[in-house]
Amino acid sequence: MDCIQQKPHAILVCFPLQGHLNPAVQLAIKLASKGFTITFINTQSIHHQITSNTQKDSDEDIFSDARKSGLDIHYTTVSDGLPLEFDRSLNHDQFMAAMFHVFSAHIDEAVQRLMESGPPVSCVIADSFLVQLGRVAKKHGLLYASFWTQPATVFTIYYHLDLLRLNGHFDCIDRREDAIDYIPGVQSIEPKDLTSYLQEEETNTICHQITFKAIHDAKKADFVLSNNIHELELQAMTDLRKKVPFYAIGPLLEFTKCRVAVATSLWSKSDCTQWLDTKPTGSVLYISFGSYAHVTKNELQEIADGVKLSQVTFVWVLRPDIVSSNDSDPLPKGFREETGDRGMIIPWCFQNQVLSHPAIGGFFTQCGWSSILESIWYAVPLMCFPLIADQPTNRKLVVDWKIGINLCDKSQITKLEVSEKINILIKSGNHELKNIIKELRRTMEHAVSREGSSERNMDQFINDFHQAIQKKTQIQSSNCIS
Ligand code: UDX
Repeated sequence: MDCIQQKPHAILVCFPLQGHLNPAVQLAIKLASKGFTITFINTQSIHHQITSNTQKDSDEDIFSDARKSGLDIHYTTVSDGLPLEFDRSLNHDQFMAAMFHVFSAHIDEAVQRLMESGPPVSCVIADSFLVQLGRVAKKHGLLYASFWTQPATVFTIYYHLDLLRLNGHFDCIDRREDAIDYIPGVQSIEPKDLTSYLQEEETNTICHQITFKAIHDAKKADFVLSNNIHELELQAMTDLRKKVPFYAIGPLLEFTKCRVAVATSLWSKSDCTQWLDTKPTGSVLYISFGSYAHVTKNELQEIADGVKLSQVTFVWVLRPDIVSSNDSDPLPKGFREETGDRGMIIPWCFQNQVLSHPAIGGFFTQCGWSSILESIWYAVPLMCFPLIADQPTNRKLVVDWKIGINLCDKSQITKLEVSEKINILIKSGNHELKNIIKELRRTMEHAVSREGSSERNMDQFINDFHQAIQKKTQIQSSNCIS
């Protein structure tokens, strides 16, 4: 009985990649500000990367400032099954295999430990791509919430994988190439706009296994929390709500409400504010391909040549492993000298600070979902160059919403097209894109306001959560009596 009136305690487990860590940290803050006790679990590897690049003590609890500000967030780390020094970027498939096969055992152990030592636990909230955590939650008699960090459209498409197979659009010899118009909640989508995994010939890689198991688990979750707003994907959300307890509670961004400093950056950030201050409004192109995907050396060459040809002023985040962690300076010879003060090339930045700067006129992006949400928030039109996973589908959404333009299909990238599209984005026709993205920004602002959809969905989730706890407690006590 003691759980009913107690503060709910959720164990929140994050997928060890930057694009997943950022919204998970914001979710922890948001839930704590709504009265939850949170224990946030990071991997030792991510923790090590954060603390080593911020020169913090390796024992540092990244939520210590959050706790000082009154939020009840605790922090612990577990192994992902690989040695700390293992190069996860270079050995991607081995890393993912560890996440698939080993990680849940470490979480299982941590949950057991937390249940024995801390305040009573009611729930495991885990990134949807952390497979088996639904099973771990059930094993310990806890509720399970799956945290979805990509668009609802992507969830819906994966949800209906059987329809894609049945209709010959996936996992068959002669794949159909016509538009897919039979997925509930998705009006029509071309095969080239499906997620990268659904376009590949090979359908049983480790990423396929993780993705399909993730959806299988999420279908059975007690709750699915989505980092989006209802208004952005009305049709997909409305349809999903009929099938799963799906709550759009985003955007979970660092700058919306409850601003608390938590160190999350996996690379050390360069500040380009002073440099941007010297540039005219809307004149600078921001280029970043996110935290995870790689480009080939040839793609990088075409992009660099196109940027040079366009004569645009730019900030380019060139992650150290963008081609491979084996190749520390993959830019074409002479590019830095030839572009000179026209460009600022940095390994990582505070993206929100850059996007919010008035000098920024466009964002050349890989279409990671967080980047898209951030760009909408700062009303910066996008140029899309999707690389992997959900990014092709995210591009379709951006282009359909008319807040960005498509660069080209990955295999056909040329410096001429890069240069032409940059000119469209920055120099000529971005007024329409700007007006529409400003409108979306207003919709997003409203969603996170007191009466807005995301706030209401969060309240609904908390309400449903309490009811589920109550129901479980009643069942447990009636089992005890009988
Ligand atoms: C992948 C998926 O494509 C994405 O949809 C999913 O939600 C997470 O994993 P990723 O490459 O990580 O994408 O990109 P994105 O979603 O854009 O997230 C990157 C995060 O890193 C953003 O929050 C961005 O603000 C931050 N970032 C990026 C920085 O802080 N500094 C940088 O220099 C670049």
